[in-house]
Amino acid sequence: MVIKTVELAHVVGVTTKKVPDTGLPEIAFAGRSNVGKSSLINCLIQRKSLARTSSTPGKTQTMNFYNVNNEVCFVDLPGYGYAHVQADFRASWGPMIERYLNGSDNLKAVNLLLDIRRTPNEDDSMMYEWIVNAGVVPILILTKSDKIKRSQIKKSVLGIKNALRITEETDVFLFSALDKTGREAIIGKIDEVTGINEG
Ligand code: GTP
Ligand code: MG
Repeated sequence: MVIKTVELAHVVGVTTKKVPDTGLPEIAFAGRSNVGKSSLINCLIQRKSLARTSSTPGKTQTMNFYNVNNEVCFVDLPGYGYAHVQADFRASWGPMIERYLNGSDNLKAVNLLLDIRRTPNEDDSMMYEWIVNAGVVPILILTKSDKIKRSQIKKSVLGIKNALRITEETDVFLFSALDKTGREAIIGKIDEVTGINEG
């Protein structure tokens, strides 16, 4: 996929009950707050800051649907696990995400982002299970790979795979928004699951 056009097509808040019908294959991005979901989307779509990023966790509080080339839709999901977002948002987060995962006919895959330096916690495991149970393709993306020594990578990857007890078929990619490590491989995986470029 070559990125030609990108536009923010839908913004869905916690109070919106209906999942928008984009009519396009959708690829979502999930993970704890601050893990780098919006940064990954910006890197994939080659826009510096179309998806809003912040060093303060809890930046993205709506599901943001980005129409890419009128071919595929990237869905930036609000992150979990950050204690300081308002209680009412925390309470409605789960139902909103589940409604989307189970309710969208267009959703093909969810990229679950994990900080390569951290052991996944219960929230990460729950998210992984939701993705698998929704019947969509789970893709693991280990972010901020620029922050870890090369010699530590193998051990971290193995620790994360074991903690989540991932299935054989789950692909795992390293990613860094700083040096763009993994960008091409992730785009290739998205092409594969959406059927883009297969003519
Ligand atoms: P929420 O919207 O709060 O759920 O966060 P998010 O997952 O969208 O994270 P975001 O993309 O806003 O990034 C959070 C912080 O991590 C920002 O300060 C980014 O600059 C930083 N960051 C993201 N990706 C990377 C990376 O690959 N390497 C490094 N070093 N920093 C990164
Ligand atoms: Mg974000």
